[in-house]
Amino acid sequence: MAGNRTLTIIKPDAVEKNLIGEILQRFIDGGFRKLTEEKAKEFYKVHADKPFYNSLVAFMTSGPVVAAILEKDNAVEDFRKLIGATNPEEAEEGTIRKDYAESIERNCVHGSDADDTAQREGDFFFSELEKL
Ligand code: CDP
Ligand code: MG
Repeated sequence: MAGNRTLTIIKPDAVEKNLIGEILQRFIDGGFRKLTEEKAKEFYKVHADKPFYNSLVAFMTSGPVVAAILEKDNAVEDFRKLIGATNPEEAEEGTIRKDYAESIERNCVHGSDADDTAQREGDFFFSELEKL
């Protein structure tokens, strides 16, 4: 029986030509799904009682996302350093959030906060086991 999953790579030529956004839109137009509300709620359930939770879930399901597992020694800490503080106003110069985030909610990128969280979040997006 046919499965419900495929792997894609947006290749270096498309990245170089700044086509990531447009290609993602084609994926969506082709019937490939965005993060569902159910998935977004589950992913951020640790924040379920926070005032920003509903808005965050709405934001995270508002368009396509790209999820990836990145590898490097000391990955969690080094990646959090690269992306900067949650609130772009508090992020250090040269970090991704400082350079590109427009608000504390719309802050461009997620990074896991610990090794065990990284494992769980990676499984959440990429495990064969259906969690929901
Ligand atoms: O993403 P990070 O681990 O840096 O922050 P978090 O405290 O785990 O919050 C998760 C996400 O919720 C943030 O990245 C923001 O997108 C959003 N958030 C928000 O909208 N308002 C806040 N006061 C805090 C977080
Ligand atoms: Mg977090």
